[in-house]
Amino acid sequence: MSNSEDYQLRVLIQQETIEKKILEVSKQINEDYKGEEVLALSVLKGGVIFAADLVRQLTMPLQLDFIQLSSYGVKKESSGDVQGLSVDHLTIKGHHILIVEDIVDTGLTLIKLKDLLLSKGAASVKIVACCYKKEKADASLVVDYFCFELGDDFVVGYGMDFAQKHRNLPYIGVMDERKDD
Ligand code: PRP
Repeated sequence: MSNSEDYQLRVLIQQETIEKKILEVSKQINEDYKGEEVLALSVLKGGVIFAADLVRQLTMPLQLDFIQLSSYGVKKESSGDVQGLSVDHLTIKGHHILIVEDIVDTGLTLIKLKDLLLSKGAASVKIVACCYKKEKADASLVVDYFCFELGDDFVVGYGMDFAQKHRNLPYIGVMDERKDD
């Protein structure tokens, strides 16, 4: 499945549903971090749209920063090799870090990132993901907050891509294979 003619998009989670769920999850995050300052760390590229929506619902003192990681390339399966894992541009020591991700799939990306942030002296590291493939992801990774639990469908939209396309869709969609008649 590599050409646009080979698949069609189907809406899995509508824009309105995403908006409502973000309000719910952010309420919980606001309660849990009451009195703390947070460094929200958006994982690019996919996490940027979720991060933009989420941080505007957070009420604690907050810094927003970014890290660009990639493990998928143009394939639909994680390569297992996380590219770009450097945090030298971030101020980590003593900060309460909230990693903001579009999707936790195998969990590999965030296991590595979280370990690295803790080894650099973060006061705490929590994770908020828009989508969480709980059954598939490595069980050792704690995803503290998530909006939607998904099965193993390959999803796009709301920041998530296939070969860099579809990030701009306002909904979360599934790529269904087109059946030949
Ligand atoms: C996606 C997603 C996560 C990671 C999750 O990034 O944004 O960072 O994969 O997969 P995992 O749980 O199996 O590690 P991707 O490599 O597609 O880069 P992108 O965000 O630039 O699209």
